[in-house]
Amino acid sequence: MGSGTPVKGARKRIGIAASVLRAAGFGEASTGIVLGTGLGGLVQHLEVEREMAYTEIPHFPEATVEFHEGRLLQGMLDGHRVVVMQGRFHHYEGWSLQEVVFPVQVLHALGVRRLLLSNAAGAIQPGFPKGSLMLLTDHVDLLPGTPLIGPNDPELGRRFPDMGRAYDPGLNALFRQAATDLGIVLQEGVYAAVKGPNLETPAEYRMLRTLGANAVGMSTVPEVIACAHLGLPCAAVSVLTDACDPDHLEPVDIADIIATAGRAEPLLVALFREVVKKMEGAV
Ligand code: HPA
Repeated sequence: MGSGTPVKGARKRIGIAASVLRAAGFGEASTGIVLGTGLGGLVQHLEVEREMAYTEIPHFPEATVEFHEGRLLQGMLDGHRVVVMQGRFHHYEGWSLQEVVFPVQVLHALGVRRLLLSNAAGAIQPGFPKGSLMLLTDHVDLLPGTPLIGPNDPELGRRFPDMGRAYDPGLNALFRQAATDLGIVLQEGVYAAVKGPNLETPAEYRMLRTLGANAVGMSTVPEVIACAHLGLPCAAVSVLTDACDPDHLEPVDIADIIATAGRAEPLLVALFREVVKKMEGAV
């Protein structure tokens, strides 16, 4: 984070980024979408109207993981105007949690009314197969910190945000309905966020299971906390890319995880498109 009063500084940086984007024609979308690892195929269905590289947006972190393209896109997806983050930021890349959530705060400043997120995660729940999708109903935050640390800016949100309905029940109902209509099996469960970038040990997988987690990953939770702070309804879906079975743990490599995410991509893309279609008419 930069210098100056942290509270006012954050809001000022959000305002600067939002005004640069507004000047470039952003700010007309009511739905924000964050594309996670290997899930970028949604943009092929987007009629892009505006785009800006993260490097062009003041105060945006720059995506560093090579399979993430760092661009903000605005356009029509199945008749609904959306703003899409192509590439997201992870704490393990060295960004502070405040930096990780900065784009979400900017999307909120631009007027989005809901945020849909995707990620790749490991399956902790034995019955959840590799390649399947899981709707997040709740989370366990094991990240080393929170994006809300420090003085609170009441203009952005409350000091003590409620996390009882962090995953919006209305949006989750829409995801369930969309999955049913498409005949897609959508698991549901609790996502544990860990710091990464190393994967977990068998003992850690046992711990996560004991904690009530059904999946584990290295993203999403900071953004969901920022949404709770902003009062921005959100929902998230994981692609389960590997089975985290502590007693039969296969060596996992990131290429395999990305390949599995890629194979599940058409399902996730179809699901997100169907959810967006169901929002048609909603503002
Ligand atoms: N842990 C284990 N498996 C995973 C993860 C993780 O954080 N992300 C994707 N697959």
